[in-house]
Amino acid sequence: MEELEKLKAELNQLNLEYANIRNIAPEERGEFGRKLNAKKNEILAKIEKANEELLNVSVEPLDITAPCAPNEALPDFYPTLEGSEHPLMAELDRVISIYQSMGFDVMESRQLDDEYHMFDSLNFPKEHPARDGYDTFRTEEGLIPPAHTSTMQNRALKAYKHNLDEGKNIAVVIPGRVYRNEDVDATHEHTFYQCEGVYVSKTCTMGDMLGILREFFEKYYEQKLEIRTQPGYFPFTEPSLEFMIEKPKSLGGKKGDFLEMLGCGMIHPNVLKMAGIDPDDDHGFAWGGGIDRLVMLRFGLKDVRNFESGNLNFLKEF
Ligand code: DAH
Repeated sequence: MEELEKLKAELNQLNLEYANIRNIAPEERGEFGRKLNAKKNEILAKIEKANEELLNVSVEPLDITAPCAPNEALPDFYPTLEGSEHPLMAELDRVISIYQSMGFDVMESRQLDDEYHMFDSLNFPKEHPARDGYDTFRTEEGLIPPAHTSTMQNRALKAYKHNLDEGKNIAVVIPGRVYRNEDVDATHEHTFYQCEGVYVSKTCTMGDMLGILREFFEKYYEQKLEIRTQPGYFPFTEPSLEFMIEKPKSLGGKKGDFLEMLGCGMIHPNVLKMAGIDPDDDHGFAWGGGIDRLVMLRFGLKDVRNFESGNLNFLKEF
């Protein structure tokens, strides 16, 4: 931790030095800039290493049992309601089974991540305003509760790269809990769920991606669906698309009523390279979208806040 603070202070100091370029003869500026950049990269690499080490610290096991005398009668007011699976978790299981039936492996996401996986490995330029668009929370140590499941792309690509070496494809989905520091209302929660998909092979096309996504949504809503796309922007895909489905008729949808369900696109060559995959040999596509919204549409729910509320009246409806 101290080490990390020291490195960050060094980085701040270094960033200030960039301003001195004004006082340097024009012909020496190139050399000056190169030296500073080299030093900066060195510090950033050390910060990344320190962050990785922080993620690996072991934590004392937590005793979550409530103190209780099993042979004593329970007081009258003691709630004896039977619990049940949370609707989001039940639906997440359905989502996963559908992808599994299509041949996808499943990887687990995590609840604390770092700058590298949240941004750098996803081709977000350093200091780029797109980083602000994700409204990330940060711990005092600079770690990030993931704001999207795309944080897992680099890990998934590395973990399954051997498939490509063995002449097979990478096909994996990664569900996970994600966090954003934004104003909460009926359609926005600070904590929600997403599912990421990553596919890489020698021959795959955008058409394959649209086919997979349509198949998934038709299986999930158990009916034929119209789909539509429009151009989008994500630093980690090129081209990027927003994927929409026509609101299912059985759920009150009218013709032309399209809902945006997820972001997707062809994986940017830089993202593949950072995972050690040669974009001249293999290419792929990826997508990511909210689970809460998917489930709300299926059950006609109006307020996303119910999912995290622990409101028993809401939960008993499932
Ligand atoms: N991570 C993006 C978000 O939360 C969604 C997304 C867009 C995921 C494009 C992808 C992708 O994998 O290729 O806004």
